Amino acid sequence: MEKKIDEEGYWAMTESVFYCLFDQKRTKAFRSAIKNTVKKGDIVVDMGTGSGVLAMFAVEAGAERVYAVELDRNNIKTLDEIFKINGYQDKIVILEGDVTKIKLPEKVDVVIGEMIATGLIEELQVPAMNNILKYAKKDAKVVLKEYESCVDLVSHRDYLYGHKFKMVRYEIPGIAGSKSIAFSDKIAYSKINFSVFNKDKKISEKIRLVVHKDGIINGIRITGKTFFCDGSDFDYSVAYSFPIILPIDDIKVKNGDEFVVSISYTLCSGFKTLKYSIKK
Ligand SMILES: C[S@@+](CC[C@H](N)C(=O)[O-])C[C@H]1O[C@@H](n2cnc3c(N)ncnc32)[C@H](O)[C@@H]1O
Repeated sequence: MEKKIDEEGYWAMTESVFYCLFDQKRTKAFRSAIKNTVKKGDIVVDMGTGSGVLAMFAVEAGAERVYAVELDRNNIKTLDEIFKINGYQDKIVILEGDVTKIKLPEKVDVVIGEMIATGLIEELQVPAMNNILKYAKKDAKVVLKEYESCVDLVSHRDYLYGHKFKMVRYEIPGIAGSKSIAFSDKIAYSKINFSVFNKDKKISEKIRLVVHKDGIINGIRITGKTFFCDGSDFDYSVAYSFPIILPIDDIKVKNGDEFVVSISYTLCSGFKTLKYSIKK
């Protein structure tokens, strides 16, 4: 996997845009929310346009103009041609730059863009929205409106090839053996509304979880749910917000045992800010 770091320090994986595009469960959910939101003549911004697919959905839905913002030069190189091949070059304006800082040429009616990772630990949805909201008209709609983060206790495979891996793990649909076994209910610990300014937002929560069966737990699972402005919602898919398992030492548990999980991090600032612990 190639990891590219540009001079401003942001990174993107070369293949992530491809995964997003081919993740039809995710992309069709976004298409439906965009179709239900964008009205004829709207001015739209697409934050982190990638393949340009969401920008094109906005034009399909009736947008008069879409500002497609992208930082990654590999993506920028292909976007011009993609929009031309599809006949959208007169409706979509490519803006090369950092969406957390870029100035838009005019105010917009609708904000679209997917820079979301599980729990809003990684990626840049919050700083991107904080900047773009400056260019939102008074009644502007934010398609990805809210994101809820949840936690539960699980048993997750951490032995592979005869070795134990005490590291952050993922449940990715289609990857055999990556699904956890739930040992408690899922409890929501944060709900972020992207249509308002969220400056330096810190998560610092203690969550009480009750185990509902006997066994051994070895992970704290973070999951998320996205709420669109048309009232629909979406949990996760192969390239979007899939569950994260934070490793803990093995704990033998009994039905009814109570635990308190403490979790803290700064939104969209990466795992470097994440701290967590579990206590009986
Ligand atoms: C998860 S992909 C989504 C791509 C596409 N919008 C989609 O939904 O299929 C996020 C995109 O944001 C871009 N990106 C990441 N950081 C950015 C930044 N600071 N400014 C602009 N674009 C950024 C990445 O290069 C990538 O194309």
